[in-house]
Amino acid sequence: MDINIVKAAEILQSARYAIALTGAGISTESGIPDFRSRGGLWEKYDPAEYATIQAFCSDPEKVWRMLFDMSEITRNARPNPGHRALAELEKLGVLKHVITQNIDNLHQEAGSKSVIEYHGNASRLECLSCGEQYQREQFAAALLGERTPPRCGKCNEILKPSVIFFGETIPPDALARSQEAAQKADAVLVVGTSAVVYPAAGIPLIAKQNNAAIIECNTEHTGLTGYATDIFILGMAGTTLPELLRQIQSS
Ligand code: APR
Ligand code: ZN
Repeated sequence: MDINIVKAAEILQSARYAIALTGAGISTESGIPDFRSRGGLWEKYDPAEYATIQAFCSDPEKVWRMLFDMSEITRNARPNPGHRALAELEKLGVLKHVITQNIDNLHQEAGSKSVIEYHGNASRLECLSCGEQYQREQFAAALLGERTPPRCGKCNEILKPSVIFFGETIPPDALARSQEAAQKADAVLVVGTSAVVYPAAGIPLIAKQNNAAIIECNTEHTGLTGYATDIFILGMAGTTLPELLRQIQSS
């Protein structure tokens, strides 16, 4: 057993208030490419052209071409053992919350109850012009069949997924809840994020200011690793998180 997993298990077991911060890396084993690894989404779509709120407002049909590709991929995605291990750690009372940058709903589908959606959730849609809210299922045919951008039933504007584009602010409730959790945390499990996008990447640093232990699970070192991380667990989250769970359950 990797000594880092043994040490991480000890920290999480003795933690008073442990939280997790996840990024796209926890969902790659569910078939959803991340953003910045080789073959990631930003290799195919320039985020400056497709992922800013300005891009969406100026040419929503163009941004929906990327969104259709993303929903094709996420439509068949299911939680993997990494998501399920975090849900189990919450059930065991080890993890208080999962703060996720992901919009794929896989933590909720894996059974995590306290999920703070830092960048929103692609299963909801909203109208920027009249504020009407919708569930994605209401447009299943349009989204998966004809690939026509869904329109508001009230004002006929093209709808936007309720996810945070670059240039938008983090939902106030998610921001407040995650800052509060980070301030209270004495352990943060950082899984599958390159930790380059703020303010999400600042969450472990808030906890660190209160001497929280930072445990990082990733397939590569990140900007956090040499700076804030106390224990680095190298590997695929779908393998390392279940090992961490087993270590906690067996001791
Ligand atoms: N197990 C563990 N780590 C993994 C795995 C895996 N199976 N697969 C990839 N990773 C790691 C990569 O090494 C990388 O460090 O996950 C990280 C993914 O980084 P990004 O692609 O940058 O994704 P993320 O950190 O979530 O991006 C943050 O940027 O584009 C915006 O809004 C978008 O929420 C996203 C934010
Ligand atoms: Zn409307």
